[in-house]
Amino acid sequence: MTTAAVVYRSRTGTTRRYAEEIGAHLRAHGIDVTVGSIGDCDMAALGDVDLLLLGCWTNGLLVIAQHPDQPWVAFARDLPRVRGRVGLFTTYRLATGSMFGRMKAELRGRAPEPALELKSRDGRLSTGDRAALDRFVAGT
Ligand SMILES: Cc1cc2nc3c(=O)[nH]c(=O)nc-3n(C[C@H](O)[C@H](O)[C@H](O)COP(=O)(O)O)c2cc1C
Repeated sequence: MTTAAVVYRSRTGTTRRYAEEIGAHLRAHGIDVTVGSIGDCDMAALGDVDLLLLGCWTNGLLVIAQHPDQPWVAFARDLPRVRGRVGLFTTYRLATGSMFGRMKAELRGRAPEPALELKSRDGRLSTGDRAALDRFVAGT
């Protein structure tokens, strides 16, 4: 059975909702999924899952200088070496700008280059998000 972990950092709940919707979509594909926040996931297990989805709210100056917040950066630096396929997600209000680039920079050398980027303003999984997730799962 394919395994997946969806790990999020959320301040006010929007990114948590997005993570839960991502998890539910993967589960509907018969994937064995765990969803948890950066503070309460099993770090060692993240190295072994087939699919690892990492999310953080967009922190910045609204239109410039977007970056994951300090707790997410600390989490990324503590990750074990990841062997599975990696996807990223974020929630935002105006623009994600440099967010994905900054997340990727933190993961470089620890994990394969992310093959998926999902973003949402309201934490709901769109039709396009579902199609992108399906391609990610299929590895295409
Ligand atoms: C301090 C702060 C900085 C933010 N910076 C940005 C930003 O640069 N660009 C943007 O689109 N949204 C920005 N936002 C909006 C949040 O990214 C957005 O509300 C997000 O969905 C919050 O996720 P959460 O509910 O999981 O904490 C900012 C919010 C806060 C509180």
